[in-house]
Amino acid sequence: MKSFYENKKILITGHTGFKGSWLTQILLNFGADVVGVSLPPDTAPNLFGELKIEGRMKNYFLDIADFDGLRKIFAEEKPEIVFHLAAQPIVRMSYDDPLRTISSNAMGTAHVLQAIKDVGGIKSAVIITTDKVYENRESQHPYQESDALGGYDPYSASKAAADIIANSYIRSFFNPKDFGMKHHTLIAIARAGNVIGGGDWAPYRLIPDVVRSIYEKNEPVEIRSPGAIRPWEHVLEPLSGYLILAKGLYEGRHDLSTAWNFGPEDESFLTVQQLVDAAIRILGKGSVDIRPDDSKHEANILKLDIGKAKKLLGWHPKFDFKQNLQYTFDWYKNYYEKREDVVEFTNKQIETFFK
Ligand SMILES: NC(=O)c1ccc[n+]([C@@H]2O[C@H](COP(=O)([O-])OP(=O)(O)OC[C@H]3O[C@@H](n4cnc5c(N)ncnc54)[C@H](O)[C@@H]3O)[C@@H](O)[C@H]2O)c1
Repeated sequence: MKSFYENKKILITGHTGFKGSWLTQILLNFGADVVGVSLPPDTAPNLFGELKIEGRMKNYFLDIADFDGLRKIFAEEKPEIVFHLAAQPIVRMSYDDPLRTISSNAMGTAHVLQAIKDVGGIKSAVIITTDKVYENRESQHPYQESDALGGYDPYSASKAAADIIANSYIRSFFNPKDFGMKHHTLIAIARAGNVIGGGDWAPYRLIPDVVRSIYEKNEPVEIRSPGAIRPWEHVLEPLSGYLILAKGLYEGRHDLSTAWNFGPEDESFLTVQQLVDAAIRILGKGSVDIRPDDSKHEANILKLDIGKAKKLLGWHPKFDFKQNLQYTFDWYKNYYEKREDVVEFTNKQIETFFK
């Protein structure tokens, strides 16, 4: 992986966010030439700042709603590989501002795809959507890539729209059957489960809520949907999937130009309350305050089938549920208590994972 990514020109949208900062750190470690396009970080603290990423690469702070600006960056930077992560990713915030969510997530994705088409020269691109793109049947059925898409809340709808738009660009302009003749770009769609890991401080997210309650506010963790089941996975799991995917596409594997689920094994399909209870056990402190709130609908059951990625991509989750949590809370324990250098600590986790 390292020798493949070394010196490759890579553009990441959303590099100032939680997943984007981890991905950027990995690619910088691999020796890639990384360029980022995002809004400035909007939480304090934030992982982008803690990893001191800004000074180590070229950053563009631009709203991807600005198509001309985005196309200009693509034209100037001429990336070979694109990872598109930029999005408004919080379900609750999508109820407060559906138009911004749709603009960033659906139109923003169309802008990235159109910039790829206009500028040319890009060999592979991974468009990151989510497990929430599936039409939720509220059943124990784990969703497969061929299942119908839908979206009750504005976030899910905006990401399902992004997914459908990406699929349309793949079929219309970057069809794998025309690869090498009409075009030289392969694009895939990646749908991840609920991602946890160190360095996330986003609002309305469970792990950041736990961390803020215990380390910053010293009050019980408030949970709104204790019984909601989610596929919890450590951030390095889907990121390793995106990296395998982009590499395979770059190497001309046109069979990979399709949609992929990246989630955990079945044992990590757990309820919100089970996750918080386990977190409190690992941290050795904290308590829970259950305040059911169904004023804003969120899915109750969400499970993912990862059979396709295991079989055809050779990707599989490395961590079990306990390790997911251990790695996550080791990171926060270090940040708040032990205070080993954040870059060094994060790199240790990355190195152990990729070993
Ligand atoms: N965190 C999860 O559990 C999870 C699960 C599945 C999928 N995803 C997807 O992964 C991606 C990254 O999520 P995250 O958890 O890192 O979110 P995050 O909020 O931490 O980061 C979002 C990033 O997108 C950028 N962004 C948002 N709107 C933008 C705009 N209009 N123009 C330019 N940049 C913009 C932000 O600046 C930031 O860099 C998103 O596409 C999200 O939908 C996340």
